[in-house]
Amino acid sequence: MSITRSTEWHERAQQVIPGGVSSPVRAFRAVGGQPRYFESGSGAYITDVDGNRYLDFVLSWGPMIVGHANPEVVESVIETVRHSSSFGAPTPVEVQLAEEISARYAPAEKVRFVSSGTEAVMTALRLARAATSRNVIVKFTGNYHGHVDSMLVAAGSGVATLGLPNSPGVTPGQAQDTVVVQYNNYDAVRELFDTRGHEIAAVIVEAVPANAGLILPEGDFNSFLREITEQHGSLFILDEVMTGFRLSAAGWYGLLQPSWTPDLITFGKVIGGGYPLAAVAGRAEVMNQLAPLGSVYQAGTLSGNPVAATAGLVTLKLCTPEVYAALDYAAFGAMQSIKDAFVSVGIPHTVQSVGNLFSVFFTNETVYSFEQAQTQDVSKFNAFFHALLNQGVYIPPSAYEAWFVSSMHDAEAMEFFDQAVGAAAQEIA
Ligand SMILES: Cc1ncc(COP(=O)(O)O)c(C=O)c1O
Repeated sequence: MSITRSTEWHERAQQVIPGGVSSPVRAFRAVGGQPRYFESGSGAYITDVDGNRYLDFVLSWGPMIVGHANPEVVESVIETVRHSSSFGAPTPVEVQLAEEISARYAPAEKVRFVSSGTEAVMTALRLARAATSRNVIVKFTGNYHGHVDSMLVAAGSGVATLGLPNSPGVTPGQAQDTVVVQYNNYDAVRELFDTRGHEIAAVIVEAVPANAGLILPEGDFNSFLREITEQHGSLFILDEVMTGFRLSAAGWYGLLQPSWTPDLITFGKVIGGGYPLAAVAGRAEVMNQLAPLGSVYQAGTLSGNPVAATAGLVTLKLCTPEVYAALDYAAFGAMQSIKDAFVSVGIPHTVQSVGNLFSVFFTNETVYSFEQAQTQDVSKFNAFFHALLNQGVYIPPSAYEAWFVSSMHDAEAMEFFDQAVGAAAQEIA
């Protein structure tokens, strides 16, 4: 496989872009080797600048749920662009997208569009603080909520301690109102609420933690969080940026159908259909505190952009029950192929999933926390990543990421994957 052109582009990129990339994981630092530069995609496959074709399990980290360059999405975007790509004023399509989101996801009574999941989270946190007149936000280890300063916070040494800045540039002041608790640690959450419940504005959690590999909730952790936040007058923010409209027509919430509602929900990825669009949504009473109805400030030059809203709306309309069945089928097939391949060569592994979202840990243990995820054999993952890449399969370039499938990962693609993963497993055994 020649990667001459990717190598040239990466050298050139590094002259003008830090590390050559617009988001760090793309640089392959975790797995080593040469990042590929891409120029086209169609359905389940992507093609790099050297002409190598790969079956894609990254899918732009989730948005390309109906495959790359879906003809209906492409046509509708072209049609929209012909009438201008932005007005900085209201457009019908953002209303239609908000209606579609609300219709699918009942707790999303009102929706405010932004351009990234990070912005959605930032807005949700501000709203929660304003609505409760409290400062403290509780988050969990291994849960990622974008690069908001107050979320780039690591746990201290205790089970539920004040956050410490996790990146230079995050000040102790920005970190001090974030408390980081170990995921799935019910006792630590109870203890925290017993002592500081009156200070807690909100708890934020990934509907299914999938940014440290896919970590399984123990028991009904989200319901527990809803209950305890309600008891203490704190808000519950469910982060569905990754899971929203992917796990089902209404995301994790639609898959599990709990009897409760979150106060606020953050969405991104699928709702933009591959364009920069995300949203904060939730209870009207809370959402109405946003300007101009309320006094909580939030704005954006390109927020609700009509091109992105069109792509998102068409994508959601394409996400029929048949599409969700196809996603589940593809994910199930991929997981089975991985298990069969590793069992046949004796590689310790655990494949974890919730619905069609899954990841592979190189350990025999079930993983319930980030701390546990870190005990896996990362060097084995890195070898697996490169072996698959050489077979023409592009998976996330890190041992701590979930894999994504699209409705275009059909039987033929999954047969190709089965062969590739078999060969990769033999290579790294
Ligand atoms: C659960 C979750 N929340 C928030 C974000 C941040 O979204 P964005 O990358 O669009 O800023 C991500 C991104 O992967 C995410 O997975």
